[in-house]
Amino acid sequence: MAKTPKVPSKPETRLVTAGRDTEAQHGFVNPPVFHASTVLYPTAADQVAHRARYQYGRRGTPTSEALESALRELEGKGCAGVALMPSGLAAISTALLAVAGSGDHILVTDSVYRPTRNFCDGMFKRMGVETTYYDPLIGAGIATAFKPNTRAVFVEAPGSQSFEMQDIPAIAKVAHDKGALVLMDNTWATPLYFSAFDKGVDLSIQAGTKYIGGHSDVMFGCVSANAATLPKLKEAMNMLGLCVGPDDMYLALRGLRTLGVRLARHYQSGLRVARWLSGRAEVARVLHPALESDPGHGIWKRDFSGACGLFSIVLKPASQQAVYAFMDALALFGMGYSWGGFESLVISFDCADYRTATPWAPGGPTLRFHIGLEDPGDLIADLERGFMAMHAAA
Ligand SMILES: Cc1ncc(COP(=O)(O)O)c(C=O)c1O
Repeated sequence: MAKTPKVPSKPETRLVTAGRDTEAQHGFVNPPVFHASTVLYPTAADQVAHRARYQYGRRGTPTSEALESALRELEGKGCAGVALMPSGLAAISTALLAVAGSGDHILVTDSVYRPTRNFCDGMFKRMGVETTYYDPLIGAGIATAFKPNTRAVFVEAPGSQSFEMQDIPAIAKVAHDKGALVLMDNTWATPLYFSAFDKGVDLSIQAGTKYIGGHSDVMFGCVSANAATLPKLKEAMNMLGLCVGPDDMYLALRGLRTLGVRLARHYQSGLRVARWLSGRAEVARVLHPALESDPGHGIWKRDFSGACGLFSIVLKPASQQAVYAFMDALALFGMGYSWGGFESLVISFDCADYRTATPWAPGGPTLRFHIGLEDPGDLIADLERGFMAMHAAA
């Protein structure tokens, strides 16, 4: 379909050119939004043979093709295809269902997004799939965690809320030597800042709800697959009957076009605010792998080409009342789950009650920030007001 110019191009250029077919779109820049279920076949013979460019709304439309093709080009040459999903969590569960079944064992990082864990401990357990959680810092040491029936290793870097960096190439090498697949939640870096397939990942997952959508107005997910895993992924998606609404696909494609500039700004502003926070007396640690002081900085520098606007901090011991006063005093940071939109957010979190392989004992209250597209100086002034309120409440 898409007639992307065949010239060498950087990912930022592909974000603009990929998935477009000007001729098929009658000259318009963007694809039409097909609200579609039934496709009519011209003859009985065509119907019986399923002979048509499109067969049924759930199986693909020009709108889904444009988005799939754009995402595939963004992922780069290791990617053989993309499955579009109604949410990031649907992308995670479908990818897992594609690679493991009854009697299998999987390895999942202890720092994984909590609902991924709920899926493994809930539905996967009921189906007879065993999950072992491993230390996110394990690296090549993961070899000892394998069993004869280990089918897959799930990685996420940095860790959800806790921001540990994982040595993905080292883990992937061991997994492949042992005949297992590597699945990654790559929502934080996006394919723009982490080339999952070059680093040994077989199935790369995005919660497109975050930076791909970018405007806090769409739920969307996708799984990108290499050639070996694509048939399994498409089979799972088709059997589960998953597809995305046409308007949401359009919003995802529209978001993708500006991902490059938005992410660069989130990266820049995020780092500026993170550096400012690390100089504050109230802050014990800033968990942001792009900071030189972060224990995961070496891996980030080696494997990633950027960062987004999401990071956490550990405060020096403070009362709950003082922490809530800090959060309540912020005018520019909304308190809400999700991230990746244009707006700044803050949440209080605690990983202690669900981690099983590694203890979570940061030594003080923890907050996660999403740095949006506001002026970073305004955000810093807002945080300063928050700290004043925190002191007043202490
Ligand atoms: C790292 C990560 N992965 C996946 C998801 C799930 O995405 P969705 O909310 O679209 O299901 C989230 C949502 O917060 C997330 O933070």
